[in-house]
Amino acid sequence: MSRLVVVSNRVGAAKSSRPASEGGLAVALRAALQERGGVWFGWSGKVLASDYETPSMAEVGNITYATIDLNQRDYDDYYKGFANSTLWPLFHYRLDLAEFSRKTWAGYQRVNAHFAHRLQPLLRDTDTIWVHDYHFTLLAENLRSAGCKQKLGFFLHIPWPALPILAALPMHSEIVKALCAFDLLGFQTDEDLWCFQDYIRREAGGEVGKNGIIKAFGRVLRAKTFPIGVDTEVFAKMATESEGSKQVERLQKSLNNRDLIIGVDRLDYSKGLINRVEAFEHLLTTYPDNRGNVVFLQITPPSRGDVSDYVDIRHELEATAGRVNGTFAEYDWGPIRYLNKSFSRRVLAGFHRVSKVGLVTPFRDGMNLVAKEFVAAQSSEDPGVLVLSRFAGAARELDGALIVNPYDTEGVAERLQEALTMPLKARQDRWQSMYQAVAVNDVTTWRENFLQALKRGGRAR
Ligand code: G6P
Repeated sequence: MSRLVVVSNRVGAAKSSRPASEGGLAVALRAALQERGGVWFGWSGKVLASDYETPSMAEVGNITYATIDLNQRDYDDYYKGFANSTLWPLFHYRLDLAEFSRKTWAGYQRVNAHFAHRLQPLLRDTDTIWVHDYHFTLLAENLRSAGCKQKLGFFLHIPWPALPILAALPMHSEIVKALCAFDLLGFQTDEDLWCFQDYIRREAGGEVGKNGIIKAFGRVLRAKTFPIGVDTEVFAKMATESEGSKQVERLQKSLNNRDLIIGVDRLDYSKGLINRVEAFEHLLTTYPDNRGNVVFLQITPPSRGDVSDYVDIRHELEATAGRVNGTFAEYDWGPIRYLNKSFSRRVLAGFHRVSKVGLVTPFRDGMNLVAKEFVAAQSSEDPGVLVLSRFAGAARELDGALIVNPYDTEGVAERLQEALTMPLKARQDRWQSMYQAVAVNDVTTWRENFLQALKRGGRAR
């Protein structure tokens, strides 16, 4: 088994035990690194006033954690700039928010080149390299020009946009060409893959053959769909254990037998949070029996707070949630509990378990693991109902959910009402089929499918 090298902007904590906040993905990657031996390479999360230093190295068991600090200019241009003010909004279909600047593009190129340069001396000839997400689309091209011949795979955790959206990016061709230096590209859904193939055929003049083979820019590679999963069993167990915990008991006591609708999201404009609150408002207006009897708990840890669009969405959400509470609250009941902080996964699992409805309504989402975690956390005897946006990748697999269009806030309110009043048998049937899906395709299966495909796939060039 060859050694594994994982590259991601955020690197899992250099610890042998699992930190409480760590998600299933980090745990699954660490397990593979531990088993095969390997390196986890990426940004340290620190911004230096001065210039770069050499990567910091930490050895834990079979894993070397190698992390690099960014200087202020590269943080601004690469992370805040091109990654999160250009690629993120564009790939989530927010052309109105995407900024196009040669300066941040140069920063993105600089950081990709620098990371490749720092990674190369750590590599062995037989390593398998797995790069994650939109921060490092140029990495393989940089490594190839430095002479790297190892197997190189890339998984995109966010959506791949349709051709007319991507074509608005002035440097779309450079990015797709650089991606073609990988041996294997992984996408979340078939729709993402089709959009990529469409670009290859119509814009790059390339070919899409059988078995995911792509020929473009003088290179041969594979592109396939690998829908990511969660650590289903572990999360289900956490949910059961957490049910009797102090926090969950406190929550239940405070609900006083009212039904709970739960939303858990990073504070991001792609998550459809304003529309979600408005949908809840429609629920209270259209179905007034819910007043005093339902509570909507929205847990929203702040994210990328120094990017201005995130500041704007935060203000807008505060205003909208405040307005709805101001309109409907009574002295003994508040409709929305809007929390700007994070909880451990264990506590979240317990909160999911005692919720009647999981409300997941992004405008666009690569997969949305919260939807899958909600399913994993339910009890088979009395499961809650998932209300899920058709624009989340998870909607392809979770056909037992009530699928909604998040832009249609009145439609979401109708489905919320249906969820709140759904008979037990229907809830059980829907949950069974969803649980089956998240149990079969969990995060370990996803990881192994990708690594197997990378192993099998022929070397590019
Ligand atoms: C999304 C991205 C990840 C990213 C995470 C948190 O899930 O796909 O790559 O790490 O958001 O965002 P942050 O900017 O804080 O890393």
